[in-house]
Amino acid sequence: MKKDLLKLLDLTREDIHEILDTADQMKFSQKHHIPHDHLKGKTLAMIFEKNSTRTRVSFEVGMYQLGGHALFLSSHESQIGRGEPVEDTARVLARYCDGIMIRTFAQTEVEELAKKASIPVINGLTDFAHPCQVLADLMTIRERMTRLEGLKLAFIGDGNNMANSLIVGGLKCGMDVSVACPEGYDPDPVVLDFAKTAEGNRFELVRSPAQAVADADVVITDVWASMGQEEERAVRAKAFTGYCVDQKLMELTHPGCMVQHCLPAHKGEEISAEVFEAHADEIFEEAENRLHAQKAVLYLLMRD
Ligand code: CP
Ligand code: NVA
Repeated sequence: MKKDLLKLLDLTREDIHEILDTADQMKFSQKHHIPHDHLKGKTLAMIFEKNSTRTRVSFEVGMYQLGGHALFLSSHESQIGRGEPVEDTARVLARYCDGIMIRTFAQTEVEELAKKASIPVINGLTDFAHPCQVLADLMTIRERMTRLEGLKLAFIGDGNNMANSLIVGGLKCGMDVSVACPEGYDPDPVVLDFAKTAEGNRFELVRSPAQAVADADVVITDVWASMGQEEERAVRAKAFTGYCVDQKLMELTHPGCMVQHCLPAHKGEEISAEVFEAHADEIFEEAENRLHAQKAVLYLLMRD
């Protein structure tokens, strides 16, 4: 593993499997009350420039369960919101803390922070990527389907941070990945270039949700307007007409097909309430697995 977790493009297939195996162990230890305070006395600084429920709570609880401590830094209340340069914040936090988790807009800000900080930096979501979420998704799929290799993952919706990370994570783990986005809402070109290099023609980008979900083992979707795009909501709702994951679409999938959603969900937009509730157990397990997957990342990056 490298010093940081900034995006799945930086990880090898072996790195991802090491995280997923460690995450399974973390989950087992937590469920069976086996002590695992591997990060005793260590502190994680969590910088949030966007809202969060799951990421904040799972990182904070995760650090506590590992015997360490996490502290919340909102950009509005810290000097970050008043323009203190990232390189200075990095050098200050490295003197108090053992790791930094950051949720922000530009991927370049996270990359810059990691370059300047001598301690590990973890991406807790940028406009480009959401690696911690996709590690939890892969963990959940593997847990329920017993494998990843050879399964078909279909993503329906916006070519956003989730789509970018799912394409990279899915392909690196040997899955077939099919993405349906409306024109103008494609995944990042860097990710599409990566997808072209995947062996065995395992990626397709199409306009038809029906084509993408055909025979899929797991269907994943996400909101049509991400954080920072609130003003585009009406325009996007129009552009994404026909991209709702509903029962009719699910009928085209492989029997036993799973559904994942990183949450929060806008039921009636990207997913019907019927499909959401039919797969709620899988979706909330995915949310739970954020905790276990991130504890694995924290342990692998911050242990002595
Ligand atoms: N899925 C996810 O990252 O949730 P939060 O925005 O609540 O952290
Ligand atoms: N794509 C969404 C994910 C939220 C967890 C966003 O960036 O807002």
